[in-house]
Amino acid sequence: MKLSSRMSLIKPAATLAINSKALELKSQGIPVISLAVGEPDFDTPLYAREAAKKAIDAGFTHYTQVGGIPALRNAVANYIKRVHNIDGVTADNIIVSNGGKQGLYSLMQTLLDPGDEVLIPAPYWTSYPEMVVMNEGVPVPVPATFESGYKVTPADLEAHLTEKTRMLVINSPCNPTGACYNREEMDAILDWAVGHGLFIISDEMYEQLVYEPATLVSAAAWFLRYPEQIAIANGLSKAYAMTGWRVGFTVAAPQIIKAMTMVQSQMTSNICSIAQYASVAALEGPQDSISVMRNEFLRRRDMAYAEISTWQGVRCLKPDGAFYLFLDVSALLDEECPDDVAMCNKLLERGHVAAVPGAAFGAPGCLRLSYAVKDEVLTEALKRMRSILVK
Ligand SMILES: Cc1ncc(COP(=O)(O)O)c(C=O)c1O
Repeated sequence: MKLSSRMSLIKPAATLAINSKALELKSQGIPVISLAVGEPDFDTPLYAREAAKKAIDAGFTHYTQVGGIPALRNAVANYIKRVHNIDGVTADNIIVSNGGKQGLYSLMQTLLDPGDEVLIPAPYWTSYPEMVVMNEGVPVPVPATFESGYKVTPADLEAHLTEKTRMLVINSPCNPTGACYNREEMDAILDWAVGHGLFIISDEMYEQLVYEPATLVSAAAWFLRYPEQIAIANGLSKAYAMTGWRVGFTVAAPQIIKAMTMVQSQMTSNICSIAQYASVAALEGPQDSISVMRNEFLRRRDMAYAEISTWQGVRCLKPDGAFYLFLDVSALLDEECPDDVAMCNKLLERGHVAAVPGAAFGAPGCLRLSYAVKDEVLTEALKRMRSILVK
């Protein structure tokens, strides 16, 4: 069968290979622990679940407005106002999509022309380069080092700027490193990118998971000043433990929102009507589930980080946000285990722990662990990893 030539450019989602191997071992009765997951282990808040049930019973089971029901777009605008303490974002600046993922994809589809270059600080979330390629753009990774706290500066970006550079994707807190830009660092990057006429996508999916003393730093206020050059990608997946509901949103200029809505109208139409009603409740209901989850992740981060920092040959930064630990294991690589993929295979086969190879995030020699798992699972996984990694 002949598939389109486009297909040869796309790589499968990086976690799939390790996941399918983990599943295979599990099916043989082997007690595999997966730290490869990218989702909170919490339940969706009860009041959001109740709202979904009510929506079904009330018959809200039909098509809705493509970009989201007005109540949800208003709820998102209010959320932005509340969380970022800014005025000026309205429902006209919002589109609701099937997860943050579709929002990001659709932004790129709306804004990129063939050959446009997109600056992507690395380590990066694994889907950015693939999305750029699928939209005929050219991903340009901008490496950030352990020493720089896995953060880039305007000078790093400048070194990768060409006449074709069209866009920058910035992600803070970052998946996979957990690195968070502070206000000054973020302002310097936005100032540089705006000054060079670039379009900036600020992926703020983990904004509710920032650990003190770090503070939440958003591009929202900059969006109000430069609405034609900035968009914010976000969603309810992580903040409200709603990964399966598939609710993402984009904040952008009305013209961009209209274009994205057109794309979505031909592709998927509205997201699930029931999920939209659940999301209105999640955004407008009591918000304490967020701090409960955040405190729990903080406690687990500290526990896991304290253990990992005793491992000889492993370098790990204390993450300021999200729920991942990013381990640099390059000093442990040898002939038997020459790269991060081999290391993840070894951890899986011998220790029965699944982690994601850093290569998937543009950072070979590293691996990503999620600590969005229960204490006892995390403790057991770390014990197993220690026995393999530490001589
Ligand atoms: C950095 C980042 N952005 C966006 C997303 C998309 O999330 P969703 O499509 O579940 O809203 C994810 C999911 O893992 C992510 O890690």
